[in-house]
Amino acid sequence: MNKENTRILKGDICYSTDKNTLITVPDGYLICQNGLSAGVFPRLPKQYDGFPIEDYSGKLIVPGLVDLHIHAPQYAFRGFKMDLELLDWLNSSAFPEEARYEDTEYAKKAYTIFVQDLRKSVNTRACLFATLHLPATKILMELLEQSGLETFVGKVNMDRNCPGYLREATGDVSADTTIAWLEETAGIYSHVRPILTPRFIPACSDRLMERLNQIQKEWRLPIQSHLSENPEEISWVQKLAPQSRFYGDAYKRFGLFGGDVPTIMAHCVHCPPEEIRLMKEQGVYIAHCPQSNTNLTSGVAPVRLFLDQDMNVGLGSDIAGGTVLSIFRSMAEAIQVSKLRARLVDDRLKPITMEEAFFMGTKGGGSFFGKVGSFEEGYEIDAIVLDESRIPHPQELTVKERLERFLYLSGDDWILHKYVKGRRLF
Ligand code: GUN
Ligand code: FE
Repeated sequence: MNKENTRILKGDICYSTDKNTLITVPDGYLICQNGLSAGVFPRLPKQYDGFPIEDYSGKLIVPGLVDLHIHAPQYAFRGFKMDLELLDWLNSSAFPEEARYEDTEYAKKAYTIFVQDLRKSVNTRACLFATLHLPATKILMELLEQSGLETFVGKVNMDRNCPGYLREATGDVSADTTIAWLEETAGIYSHVRPILTPRFIPACSDRLMERLNQIQKEWRLPIQSHLSENPEEISWVQKLAPQSRFYGDAYKRFGLFGGDVPTIMAHCVHCPPEEIRLMKEQGVYIAHCPQSNTNLTSGVAPVRLFLDQDMNVGLGSDIAGGTVLSIFRSMAEAIQVSKLRARLVDDRLKPITMEEAFFMGTKGGGSFFGKVGSFEEGYEIDAIVLDESRIPHPQELTVKERLERFLYLSGDDWILHKYVKGRRLF
């Protein structure tokens, strides 16, 4: 241990160890060595006497937040046409906007705004959808690399049931463009990794899915997509894939649903019991996106069921189904919609607690990236120092009370400092 590869952060520290346990250490010390946590201590251990300390006394320090599902090209039109359901919203809003990314000048402009905001936000990691365009996807990756955030980025695959202006001509064209994208970006980036991204079953032909299965095996890539988001979408999948027993089975048939393939499925609002069983068996990650599910009238995912079975669950902003980058906001909304669900749909599913929401937005989603989202020993240090200056309070609050208030009251960029994998971004 030496001073060069050690950082010590001092402040009011808060992190999850499991979904029910929030550790708070007021006025504590977070020790970081070679980018990894060496633990959190209420007093500075003797061996660090004389080491420099980054002193954030009186400020909250928590793990960086993880967005498991976000559409980068949709950032520019968040807040538009929020009175539509999924399929009408895609056709009238998402698809026309994504088509603009054919133009690399537009892509540069729009992705620069997006990445600047993401960099300033409380999130340190994200799994992103780009568009089907290869040059624009490379621009996004380049900007993200420069931002210092840790991300997975997917060039989107879509070769059917989409307007001609935003559709790849055939499954082979889509797959070959994906291979070209992987080859052209291989080994270039330290902080951006590729992820296979079939948009959803309605937009992907069987031929395309077969090819993606081969590409997955060759390149050993994770995958991300959408699952059981909206009733109309689900009936459409039943018609398009009559041999599949349920929506998730349509991915599983092509070897793209967990098991050896790290998989994120966004939404999972209307999963039948067999689908939930398969997700659990296969270790599929669920990206719960409460704000999007509200805006697009999708419904409320039964997150209590997922958590109680120790399934892999994280949170997603689903920009621009959701409008807010901050995963703190998704935590608050996960709690809020779970209460509505309990009252209006099924009171056997108890509302999500604050501990569970915080866990999902940090360690829960973070585990997709490895040992990420906590300050336990050996975890990669993503840390944010929060700015509470806009919400002064007349009483002394506990660390947990301050954190809880932050979930509900804070904006995207109420942050003073940000560390990713032990590196200080600002
Ligand atoms: N399903 C397929 N594409 C999309 C998308 O862009 N957003 C959401 N919310 N669901 C989708
Ligand atoms: Fe989405």
